[in-house]
Amino acid sequence: MTVLATICVVADEAPAGIDVSKPNAARMYDYMLGGKDNFAADRDAADWLRSVAPELSATAWANRKFHQRATAWIARHGVSQFLDIGCGLPTMDNTHQVVHRVSPAARVVYADYDPVVVLHARALLAKGTPHVAVVLADLREPEALLDTVRAEGLLDFGEPCGLLLSAILHFVAPADDPAGALRTLTASLAPGSYLALSHVTTDGVSADRVETGLAVYRHASAQMHPRGRAEVTAFFDGLELQPPWPGASAEVTRVSLWGRPDPPADGEAATESWWAGVARKPPGR
Ligand SMILES: C[S@@+](CC[C@H](N)C(=O)[O-])C[C@H]1O[C@@H](n2cnc3c(N)ncnc32)[C@H](O)[C@@H]1O
Repeated sequence: MTVLATICVVADEAPAGIDVSKPNAARMYDYMLGGKDNFAADRDAADWLRSVAPELSATAWANRKFHQRATAWIARHGVSQFLDIGCGLPTMDNTHQVVHRVSPAARVVYADYDPVVVLHARALLAKGTPHVAVVLADLREPEALLDTVRAEGLLDFGEPCGLLLSAILHFVAPADDPAGALRTLTASLAPGSYLALSHVTTDGVSADRVETGLAVYRHASAQMHPRGRAEVTAFFDGLELQPPWPGASAEVTRVSLWGRPDPPADGEAATESWWAGVARKPPGR
């Protein structure tokens, strides 16, 4: 049983200080992945979304598996420290578990702005696990986030780092300048570092799904800001996008296609509502 589930021994009884009446982005995602750390409001909101997108859980897993494939790929490219921002509630095969299979001494810092996620992650991911830490930090305040990570002392910004931003940037409003936050973060990374990100899109998605998706998150802890392929690609400006599969052009792709061993069939995953990509910071940047 997980920490949040343990505190809530009686189903849907919330620990003090947690607002369970409002759907929470991290807990909704936990529910979509089949986790137990969620409450009725989270499940109702996710089920509302499922009413127009029956493949909701499969899509959430497609994103999670991208996160795992991209993380392992970066580790195999010699990177031995990772910053996972918007890490979410612990689930199966968390970042450090994926990384440590490739490089057992690699260091991982998890960051999230949700205090419940941080509490939970500290108890389940960091406690007793060497080379792993969890910090409370907000992507919309990148300088403060970097200060917090530096103060933690686990990562060395003089060496290449894997910066993981899976399923978080679509919770950052245009007014909060997500591209500026990314520029600040990548400027602090050493050449040879990698950025992996996934992002919800409306490209190829029917209007009723888009409307319902926006409405579901309008009343949640974080609002949804889907972006098109060009905008998601622009998040990688100044970095070298990597081909998503052998022989592919260097570009962002639908999330389930990234990191596959063979080229996909024509039109495969064309209506999947996520883009994903991985890029490398070149020397001299
Ligand atoms: C959908 S979950 C993604 C979990 C994981 N990265 C994955 O893709 O499997 C999004 C997470 O981003 C966090 N988040 C949203 N906005 C954030 C922000 N501005 N700063 C830090 N974390 C944020 C939420 O609290 C939540 O835990």
